[in-house]
Amino acid sequence: MQALNVASGDIVIVCASVHHGNTRRVAEAMAAASGGHVYEPGDEALRAAGDCALLGIGSGIYFGHHHTSLLAFAGALEAGRNRSAFIFSTSGTGDRLARLAGRDYHQSLRTILCNRRFRVEGEFSCRGYDTYAPWRIFGGFARGHPDMNDLQNARTFMLSLGRGI
Ligand SMILES: Cc1cc2nc3c(=O)[nH]c(=O)nc-3n(C[C@H](O)[C@H](O)[C@H](O)COP(=O)(O)O)c2cc1C
Repeated sequence: MQALNVASGDIVIVCASVHHGNTRRVAEAMAAASGGHVYEPGDEALRAAGDCALLGIGSGIYFGHHHTSLLAFAGALEAGRNRSAFIFSTSGTGDRLARLAGRDYHQSLRTILCNRRFRVEGEFSCRGYDTYAPWRIFGGFARGHPDMNDLQNARTFMLSLGRGI
């Protein structure tokens, strides 16, 4: 596996995690593996994203898309510099099951980033504990996720990103 070849201070990870903090745990694992910094969407994140070599951007999935605050953040990014980015998410079903059902949870965010002239170097997703109705009645869905294995996969994903950058 090839390690990331961007300076760790140049890695900015912007994360909206509003349901159970699931995606934040993934973002923190990615930051710990790469020396990157985690931000919530907002002005500080926009400033940091303006200078970084690699931008990570992720949230939980809500009704088939990344969180609206993250989509708005992506839409506000400075365009036209052909920089590197990666996308991540957590969701109740996980990406594989969603794709089997014909859903692409990352599509909206990917389209925005491509329109802002970012190169999407990789995408990561895993399941995240979901207590949105009707799952609450049954004690939740994807209980225990992200688990140790998911977080290890997130770290491995970060370290393997260096291939394209
Ligand atoms: C209002 C709402 C809508 C959701 N919609 C979806 C969905 O469309 N597909 C899915 O797989 N999970 C869905 N989930 C589950 C979340 O994506 C999952 O719990 C995620 O890990 C939450 O991340 P967070 O804790 O970082 O906010 C939804 C959760 C909520 C609260």
